[in-house]
Amino acid sequence: MKLFLDSANLTDVEGALARRHIAGITTNPSLLSKEPKANFYAHLGKIIDAIRASGHSVPLSVEVFTPKIDEMISQADDIYKKLGYDGVNIKVPIGWDELKVISALAGKGIQVNCTCIFTEEQAVLAANAGASYVSIFHCRLKDIGGDPVRVIANTRNILDRANSKAEIIVGSIRGQSDILEAHLAGGHIVTAGAKIIEGMASHPQTEKSVQGFLKDFEAWLK
Ligand code: E4P
Repeated sequence: MKLFLDSANLTDVEGALARRHIAGITTNPSLLSKEPKANFYAHLGKIIDAIRASGHSVPLSVEVFTPKIDEMISQADDIYKKLGYDGVNIKVPIGWDELKVISALAGKGIQVNCTCIFTEEQAVLAANAGASYVSIFHCRLKDIGGDPVRVIANTRNILDRANSKAEIIVGSIRGQSDILEAHLAGGHIVTAGAKIIEGMASHPQTEKSVQGFLKDFEAWLK
């Protein structure tokens, strides 16, 4: 059950790397825009420094920020070269012409995370074009009355039967129950914000049990 951290916040990143419960980090232009204004490469460079310092080399998804197809490839090249970290994969949104970008980047050995996917058909096209990851948006699909569990399960079934190397990342997660649902539906990876993941560690009964043990032991020591 692979978890990725869905955040561009340095404190979130360092906290996650220190605990090693994540197997990757995903960012997008909106997550970056939540951080203090900075140079794009400088900010991502700090995330990569934190990854390197932790010795836990995890993949980092960085999204192109141009809608123009002909600019996407050169921008992806730039991002990959300037960041200089093998674990960088480029996020490219699904689309008919974007498939050309995905196959071109994959052909150059640059890993692609095809993002903003809402259907099985989009996921299949992205995987066939060479994407290493296909990112299905769980809650944004629910927002329009869609069924992400069906889309994830069908996509997993199709990819498995095709022996595809592509992995499903389930994103757009808003609560712990979404994480469980997405994994049980067949998501290889679920990416979620730091607070949601942190909440997974606690349960009232856990706290109560530990307090009881400590209280009993303290009494025994007296
Ligand atoms: C992940 O790769 C996505 O960009 C992210 O999970 C989207 O989440 P949101 O729907 O909360 O913006």
